[in-house]
Amino acid sequence: MSQRHDAQVLIIGSGAAGLSAALRLADQVKVAILCKENLTESSTLYAQGGIAAVMGEEDSVESHIKDTLIAGAGLCDEQAVRFTAEKAKEAVLWLVNKGVTFTRETRPDGRLDFHLTKEGGHSHRRILHAEDATGFAIETTLAQCVQQHPNIALFEFYTCIDLIRKDQECIGVYALNNRTQQVEVFQAPITILATGGASKVYLYTSNPDAASGDGVAMAWRAGCRVANMEFNQFHPTCLFHAKAKSFLITEAIRGEGGILKLADGTRFMPAFDARAELAPRDIVARAIDHEMKRLGMDCVYLDISHKPDSFITSRFPNVHQKCLSFGFDMTKGSLPVVPAAHYTCGGIVTNLKGQTDLARLYAIGEVAYTGLHGANRMASNSLLECLVFAASATEDILANPPLTMPKWQAPSWDESQVTDSDEEVVVSHNWHELRRTMWDYVGIVRTDKRLQRARSRVALLNQEIHDYYANFKVTKDLIELRNLALVAKIIIDSAIRRKESRGLHFNLDYPEVSPNATCTTLKI
Ligand code: FAD
Ligand code: SIN
Repeated sequence: MSQRHDAQVLIIGSGAAGLSAALRLADQVKVAILCKENLTESSTLYAQGGIAAVMGEEDSVESHIKDTLIAGAGLCDEQAVRFTAEKAKEAVLWLVNKGVTFTRETRPDGRLDFHLTKEGGHSHRRILHAEDATGFAIETTLAQCVQQHPNIALFEFYTCIDLIRKDQECIGVYALNNRTQQVEVFQAPITILATGGASKVYLYTSNPDAASGDGVAMAWRAGCRVANMEFNQFHPTCLFHAKAKSFLITEAIRGEGGILKLADGTRFMPAFDARAELAPRDIVARAIDHEMKRLGMDCVYLDISHKPDSFITSRFPNVHQKCLSFGFDMTKGSLPVVPAAHYTCGGIVTNLKGQTDLARLYAIGEVAYTGLHGANRMASNSLLECLVFAASATEDILANPPLTMPKWQAPSWDESQVTDSDEEVVVSHNWHELRRTMWDYVGIVRTDKRLQRARSRVALLNQEIHDYYANFKVTKDLIELRNLALVAKIIIDSAIRRKESRGLHFNLDYPEVSPNATCTTLKI
């Protein structure tokens, strides 16, 4: 018999999306949060650059909307973009009210105000930040509020396996307790997926291990539509060092004057785009990839050492320290950088209330496809999306009481047909092969041949993983691998369907942008 738990709202994921949703609900309803690791481990924790919002009169919401639409390369849903940009200021003030301390500066007229930085694609300084560790400030502050709230129950180190469906509704989730290795049943009238992205599907990624696409895979298996999964964002500048695990070098460094150079010191971005280092990320990452391949180089270089030391160390204290620990002093010279998988623009299709195709199931944050990002996400619009859609989803939930428990009891997890794994090596081998295949054939520059090659390899891996899953007890690694393999298949199928190059999807066999901008929407 599986152990059972009830809540009025079940939230899967404890990043910016999950934690802010929990705090917006908990004064009125009983919430349970499940997460795979400890409470704060998430992409949110590692976010550096900041959060985009128009706070003052020097900038305008219309300009934020325009920049987002341009970066999205014709595929954004304008309604979603407007909705998000208009609610940005309110979202940031909510964070300030919860205790998040953003960096401030004294303006020329003597006023103390938020310091705003710039990143690729933004035509104004509109990014609020907490030094160069914005995500840490947001995540740890919200986590503290959540831990103190009497209506929030925390289930850390639980890996959700699958949603529980009953009569076309979601009534909860099966989750592996990572500590006991037992599968438990969580039931609730409302479930929110806030599980983050899927960049772990690539061998090199800026993301933490949890980003294994579990939410997309669970929703897919439950029959939800998934859109635009071919748009995988590669961040142009991660530290190139064998031990750095693709440590991110924030785009704000380019926003504050950092320059990209070749090994001989030549600046190359102006030859690719008039916006040079501050072009949207797809353009910068592709230019770096092009130069690395053309010259047979392992990396390019990011240089901000022309700025005063005191500026660099006070504006980027964490990045500076981290780079020092790998032997690079960014006040004295340039940093070796390479692109790495960073953000999943596609996801579970939702409306502006975060509702998915399955009744009683919401999806918010990076796991969702709201239409905000189109074919390429603009820097610092992601944390914003987490907060804005957590607010709209929870408003909708609270506006539709009562949140009474489902009468039907989901069956216990059935382990009668499976045994303990005999060869764990199958899992670790397939993890590596899958991520290598995606990196080699479904990366920054694609071709039909590479995509077909990836499709047949990933099909074999999916078959093998399916057989393994059917015969052996689940483990966290196996659950994640099963999800990654499914997400890889969805990415490849989506990429094969797109017969053009747009935003983050670049296929040498179809280098032009099609006059008809359409989303790729798939379903089981
Ligand atoms: P996450 O913060 O990723 O949280 C996901 C949660 O889901 C985790 O708690 C995880 O444990 C849980 N989870 C996942 N699967 C399961 C499962 N099966 N069972 C239980 N729990 C599960 N964006 C910006 O806007 N500005 C930035 O400056 C910025 N910098 C970034 C820097 C880095 C290094 C990275 C990696 C990303 C950055 N991004 C930035 C992107 C942004 O941080 C993320 O898109 C955003 O934080 C996602 O938040 P989330 O709440 O959707 O998911
Ligand atoms: C960064 O700081 O460069 C990351 C910003 C983002 O992903 O939005």
